[in-house]
Amino acid sequence: MSKIKTTFHCQECGAEYAKWQGQCNKCGSWNSIVEEIKQTSTEQIWDQTKSELNSGHSQPKSIDEIQIKDEYRIETKDKEFNRVLGGGIVPGSITLLGGEPGIGKSTLFLQISLKINNRVLYVSGEESENQIKIRANRINYSNSECLIYSENKLESIFAQAEKIKPNILIIDSIQTLTTNTVDSLQGSITQLKTCTAELINFGKKTSIPIMLIGHINKDGNIAGPKVLEHMVDTVLQFEGDRNHLYRILRVKKNRFGSTNEIGIYEMVTEGLKEIINPSEILIGNSEQKLSGTAICASVEGSRPFLIEVQALVSTAVYGTPQRSTTGINSKRLNMLLAVLEKRAGFHLASKDIFLNITGGLKVEDTGNDLAIIAAILSSNNDLNIPEDYCFAAEVGLSGEIRPVSRVDQRIKEAEKLGFSKIFISKYCDTTVAKKIQIVYLTSVEDLIDKIS
Ligand code: TYD
Ligand code: MG
Repeated sequence: MSKIKTTFHCQECGAEYAKWQGQCNKCGSWNSIVEEIKQTSTEQIWDQTKSELNSGHSQPKSIDEIQIKDEYRIETKDKEFNRVLGGGIVPGSITLLGGEPGIGKSTLFLQISLKINNRVLYVSGEESENQIKIRANRINYSNSECLIYSENKLESIFAQAEKIKPNILIIDSIQTLTTNTVDSLQGSITQLKTCTAELINFGKKTSIPIMLIGHINKDGNIAGPKVLEHMVDTVLQFEGDRNHLYRILRVKKNRFGSTNEIGIYEMVTEGLKEIINPSEILIGNSEQKLSGTAICASVEGSRPFLIEVQALVSTAVYGTPQRSTTGINSKRLNMLLAVLEKRAGFHLASKDIFLNITGGLKVEDTGNDLAIIAAILSSNNDLNIPEDYCFAAEVGLSGEIRPVSRVDQRIKEAEKLGFSKIFISKYCDTTVAKKIQIVYLTSVEDLIDKIS
């Protein structure tokens, strides 16, 4: 007997309701609840389950009986991408790449497909073959085994993939796929969930790794239900400012590796260029050293790199002073300003403060705190920080300078780039420095004494 089931889903958060309502109770958005039809045949499902049981398929096993298969990974020619994934693509895995429109998601995956020495099936439901070819011409790599397929029907994609047997299957994008098994609109929650679930099954059955591109909604999350992120093995986020050249590839979830790794790319006319040595490009190399800049020995993932923090402190023209940041969390800036005000006696309440990370990068490491404070002090007091000084420490709420992770790596990177002094917390234990002088600090006041 076939039964038709209707459900109502919020298109923003994926919450499910039995009846339509104007506002979603879960995420609070209005008019986001849409009716979707689920068609399931109970008999069919039973038959399938019974035949699976009879065929000896999917039986529980004792943990002692389970043999670990050799972990094999498909290495792409893109070192940044390999590192972010934890060494390459795991066969049968599902990777989801999210990012704003125009950030370079399609470029990244097409580039990987063209550089690799394997057979790739690149399915695009968004662009025509012509458009993809134009992009491929810009990228300047070629791979005759990279097959382009402009299609959005999941069943046709599976049929082709079974025939072609690619080493990697790329789908651009998951929101454009449709499957005949459900009757709702393209891009709807049910379509998204069903297509992803079917892709996961297909991947596991054939051991073909699948890489999906996903659109993001206005909050920066992958459009569709959060459940999508739970279903896949790896979630990558491509970030950066569209107006800047640098892009960061971050890992939000990884079943096969660390989530701390990042990959850095530069968008050039020939596609995305890997940035193997980020420090060299991220430090502004202006001849004339100006006040308001400080260099930070930062770590993102397992990789140390030096970045420049710029601050501008000026008297507020309007009643409410402005606080503006690019590349750093504004809450962190407010906290650091409160510490400066309370612990070091700085009166910044009537000042406009602008903070910027050069290159348009977004950084999250709290080890940047000391450099941020140094840049603000430098701009406020109009005091130049010598260009061969750098900073690596976290600042606590009582103004104490706290140790940061991977301090040895930070020191080595600063030394390699010719810095003469690095300011770190007194509580850091390190012996790696050879040429670089280490200045140990205990509090924010200590910093003021030592740089002025
Ligand atoms: P795209 O990969 O289409 O972004 P997404 O798939 O995330 O929407 O990237 C589009 C942008 O990249 C577009 O603004 C042009 C730029 N671009 C380059 O600068 N150089 C290149 O070689 C390519 C292919 C694109
Ligand atoms: Mg695209």
